Amino acid sequence: MHDVVDAVNTDRFKLNRLTPGPQLDSLVVDVHAGLTGSPRSLPPKYFYDETGSKLFDQICQTKEYYLTRAESALLRKYADDIIATVKPAAIVEYGSGTSEKTELLIQAANQHNDWVHYLPLDVCEEILIEAASRLIARYPWLSIDAWHGDFLHDMQRFENHHERSLYTFLGSSLGNFSNKQAIRFLRDVRETASEDDWFLLGVDMVKDAAVLNAAYNDSDGYTAAFNLNLLNVLNQSLDGDFNTDNFIHHAFFDTDKSRIEMQLRSTREQTITLREIDLEIKFDDGEHIVTEYSRKYTKESIQQLLISAGFSPHQVYTGDNNEFMLILSSCNKFK
Ligand code: SAH
Ligand code: TRP
Repeated sequence: MHDVVDAVNTDRFKLNRLTPGPQLDSLVVDVHAGLTGSPRSLPPKYFYDETGSKLFDQICQTKEYYLTRAESALLRKYADDIIATVKPAAIVEYGSGTSEKTELLIQAANQHNDWVHYLPLDVCEEILIEAASRLIARYPWLSIDAWHGDFLHDMQRFENHHERSLYTFLGSSLGNFSNKQAIRFLRDVRETASEDDWFLLGVDMVKDAAVLNAAYNDSDGYTAAFNLNLLNVLNQSLDGDFNTDNFIHHAFFDTDKSRIEMQLRSTREQTITLREIDLEIKFDDGEHIVTEYSRKYTKESIQQLLISAGFSPHQVYTGDNNEFMLILSSCNKFK
């Protein structure tokens, strides 16, 4: 860990914080509102403590979770094409995680620019530092301006002084938002960007329900462990007494709403306490907490959303099997 920390705030790697202090305030408000609401829910950003981020990485490698492989294949095939269109001096990425797929864009960008700037933003500081340290060590022509914070709440403080930037939002993370949040987020991105900038969005496509259900119920149990880890996060940060043996992971595709719904279900009648916020919750047997949605799009539905947020979709890359889409949009409405 020392090597990693030593790499921070050198001339090629700066770490910025969008949130001034610990995130406890928003955690308290979010958890209180979510757990006392109907249905009970928890915001997905709290999945990503260090353990959660590692588990997510393992989900991405399971045989059922096709999304990462499909998106990587599209990027391998089209990164050069995307970079030739945009010719970016800088790449901005929201929810960058391990930055593994983005690395394909970063490599391609170096073919057009001697020097490439990367601005990853993530709520998980450990993964941000780990990914940036790996990239800095690998590419001597790269500089990184990393941002630690919440892309739904702290975007006003984010700064990008580079011209001709490619903004990216990969991993079908847009699908984890409600429709209202998705529109608001896309408008925030459009406002942050300039007319010369471009936006690359990666989202999952509507497909056979059996394939979708399998992707969120992997047989190795990583998705279940990831979902249940959310309760550990609450236990640690709010002095709680959730017993993860008394909840089960449940995920299913809701065809009408075109989204996966992920839940934690109580397997018995039980009362849990979060001592830090003096909150006691009584769960019935079978009662659930909604922990995540994962919306699936069609070419039409995603382009409509982008247009309504002020983008001009330029190209939709789906590959041959229509599993996943990358949509490259201009920020200039006349392009
Ligand atoms: N883009 C990567 C990671 C996707 S997982 C990929 O495609 O593989 C989602 C990432 O978004 C995680 O790294 C998580 O820490 C981050 N994240 C989730 N909610 C966030 C929020 N509200 N603000 C900033 N980052 C968030
Ligand atoms: N953006 C990813 C998706 O919608 C997030 C994700 C994948 C996820 N698997 C998960 C979130 C399991 C929670 C639990 O596919």
